[in-house]
Amino acid sequence: ILEYCRIIELPKIHDQRGNLSFIESNCHIPFAIERVYYLYDVPGGAERGGHAHKELHQLIIAMSGSFDVVIGDGHQKKRFHLNRSYYGLYICPMIWRELDNFSSGSVCMVLASNRYDESDYFRDYPEYLAAKGLQ
Ligand code: TYD
Repeated sequence: ILEYCRIIELPKIHDQRGNLSFIESNCHIPFAIERVYYLYDVPGGAERGGHAHKELHQLIIAMSGSFDVVIGDGHQKKRFHLNRSYYGLYICPMIWRELDNFSSGSVCMVLASNRYDESDYFRDYPEYLAAKGLQ
């Protein structure tokens, strides 16, 4: 299922006044947006994420600055460097993700398919692997 996760190139309307990008539910991304959250003022060297979601779909965008997202499915891992606000990384359910390498002043915006629900998280890696039948 790691193959379902991919960089999505968003529309970019360019003119002399600057760029404009937009995202419509179920059109540019394969889910309807129920929630938006963002990470900012992340101290140098900090790591975020370190969990998987049971049902949540997400799109992660570097609105400013840059950071890395490492995704894994228990078999393999892939590292993506995000640094453009017209690219989003789509993450499907049951993918372990870690975010690191935040540049100073970076802003990580996440579009999510559901409201916040702690019971949708796997925060323990062995528990995540067990749920996937891998341990
Ligand atoms: P968490 O998802 O662990 O952050 P990270 O993106 O680094 O993995 O969330 C950190 C805290 O914020 C946790 O106590 C849950 C809370 N939180 C909300 O209340 N609502 C939200 O939409 C999100 C994403 C987190």
